[in-house]
Amino acid sequence: MSVLSPRLVDEIKALPARYPQPRSAVMPALDLAQEEIGYLTPEAMSEVAVALQLDPGYVEGVATFYTLFHLSPIGKHLFYVCTNLSCTLRGAGDIVDHVKGAIGVKEAGEVSSDGLFSYEEVECLGACEFAPMLRLDHQYHYDLTAEKIDRLVAERKLAPASREAPAAPPALWATSPASGEGDSSHRLTKPLAPKKVRKKKGG
Ligand code: FES
Repeated sequence: MSVLSPRLVDEIKALPARYPQPRSAVMPALDLAQEEIGYLTPEAMSEVAVALQLDPGYVEGVATFYTLFHLSPIGKHLFYVCTNLSCTLRGAGDIVDHVKGAIGVKEAGEVSSDGLFSYEEVECLGACEFAPMLRLDHQYHYDLTAEKIDRLVAERKLAPASREAPAAPPALWATSPASGEGDSSHRLTKPLAPKKVRKKKGG
């Protein structure tokens, strides 16, 4: 039985036409699959490979390389907290601690007891001038304070959203932030940093 919906499979099959190299569609395809079912199961990766007519090993290799993709369950709302230099100099350590307390988890990757939240520490998200910052539900949030984080958490607890497919184009392709005023709906211009360079707390 298929784990991806027929609608999504059709959408994935249409992606290669957008790119000079059809295999470039693998990342937006994986992103769409993850949006639909929450994380990338082996079955989902296999179905993406079939839809794109790519080698399953190549698709799995891409999925396992980037922090953007998750191979195990995550919370419905995932905080990507930047802990690179600029954000760290402006208090990212305290932001991480506050996020952990606000969502009720002890470490990165842990899912809160209500299933709503988890967090990860990531490398630079390209919005250093608005540090400290994070990405949540495809939006950037700048100049973070404890109050802003509490508000983000409270809003999502009040209206726990179902997983929504991202508006086209997929989350990987968009502009970088242009303003430091409040929150942003700008999407990522590039995938998050590779796992091999993920910053470890206390490292
Ligand atoms: S260091 Fe955090 S956005 Fe660049």
